[in-house]
Amino acid sequence: DKARIGVTGLATMGRNLARNLARHGHPVAVHNRTPSRTKALVEEFGDEGTFLPAESAERFVASLERPRRLVIMVKAGPATDAVIEEFAPLLEPGDMIVDGGNAHFADTRRREADLRERGIHFVGTGISGGEEGALHGPSIMPGGSAESYESLGPLLEDISAHVDGTPCATHVGPDGAGHFVKMVHNGIEYADMQLIAESYDLLRHAAGLAPAEIAAVFREWNTGRLESYLIEITAEVLAHTDAATGRPFVDVVLDQAEQKGTGRWTVQSALDLGVPVGGIAEAVFARSVSGHADLREAARGLPGPARAGAETLPGVPDAIEKALYASKIVAYAQGFHEIQAGSAEYGWNIDAGAMATIWRGGCIIRARFLDRIRAAYEADPHTPTLLTDAHFAEALGDAQEAWRNVIAIAAKHGVPVPGFSAALAYYDSLRAERLPAALTQGQRDFFGAHTYRRVDREGAFHTLWGGDRSEITS
Ligand code: 6PG
Repeated sequence: DKARIGVTGLATMGRNLARNLARHGHPVAVHNRTPSRTKALVEEFGDEGTFLPAESAERFVASLERPRRLVIMVKAGPATDAVIEEFAPLLEPGDMIVDGGNAHFADTRRREADLRERGIHFVGTGISGGEEGALHGPSIMPGGSAESYESLGPLLEDISAHVDGTPCATHVGPDGAGHFVKMVHNGIEYADMQLIAESYDLLRHAAGLAPAEIAAVFREWNTGRLESYLIEITAEVLAHTDAATGRPFVDVVLDQAEQKGTGRWTVQSALDLGVPVGGIAEAVFARSVSGHADLREAARGLPGPARAGAETLPGVPDAIEKALYASKIVAYAQGFHEIQAGSAEYGWNIDAGAMATIWRGGCIIRARFLDRIRAAYEADPHTPTLLTDAHFAEALGDAQEAWRNVIAIAAKHGVPVPGFSAALAYYDSLRAERLPAALTQGQRDFFGAHTYRRVDREGAFHTLWGGDRSEITS
């Protein structure tokens, strides 16, 4: 008997995805460059379902039913190209290669175009949820052809997480759409994590709470509108005590955040698309700042308020909750703006509401909140920004005093809150009647004759700054 689907690349994510498929009754072919991993998988978990181990690429491909469905789970980058080149010559027109790694969507577009010419469907697929998600139900974001989704969809939906009976998997759009959406998911993930980190920092250094007390605050927040996986694990991490020293775990971890690149890509492509994603960008930069040990060392003695810690400011936790919720709305609004801009640029026709729907479960940013976004797009599928949705606008209105106070308190105590600040600045920029961009235009016209438009007449104008300062049309 043949396997319904095959997984090559049996590191943690690939192994867990294969187990997930097998546990759902889908016979799965498994293959790894070093066969010992394949053997170990079958030895350890063989009783979970039907695994068809293969030592060679040829045997692996031969064990798949037609059209073949082959999932590659290798480290994104050159390894992906190498594996494609290993398998593509063994495949036939109509077969499908699913790339479940965190590939850059531009690479996915290139690979898809190349394989399409050879008659093979290349399905760049975002998979979120980490190791646990891969095993118990991830959120799955496949790109590629609609035809390939007809064949793959039922399998992917079967093994994905489900919320209210709805699978957290859907066809995102053609070629690189799936990896693009996964990239933005990760950008939002960075922003969400940064806002939570700033909330912790404020609770500690402006509200004077200890890590265990802050864990309790997050646990409390997790029963309300902020309920999410990231808030839940934040409480766990903060409550944890280091066994070796007896100190709070968070105090023994080196404070330099690392990144694999998807957050940076989100910002890079936002720049290319001309989409303002300041909240996400500040999250990427915050990790970058944290990693510059030499810079931080050099600047450590600079003057400014000492970060107290002992001072207890009543009401601050509630205000932070509001600031966090408002800033989170902004970060997601920015991410969804980028998805819509990418969709327009590349002709993907992405259904933004459907993305919110498949992010409700399985993925790292899974949250009750995503259902609000789903509802916002249901109410107005073409809304230019989530900020104006009735629910979000009300929450933003309700947060005004708290949001601004929290940022003021942070500034007063010397606690950096780039995420909160960027979110509020974006909000105030969008709602402003007039922006100082008019002055910027004047400067550009002054030094470079770059021209400007007027509020009262059509056309492009230039003032003769070096002459009599009369205005000419250009
Ligand atoms: C997910 C995660 C996953 C991975 C990130 C981590 O959705 O399951 O986003 O893809 O954990 O790539 O990213 P950094 O290493 O850049 O923080």
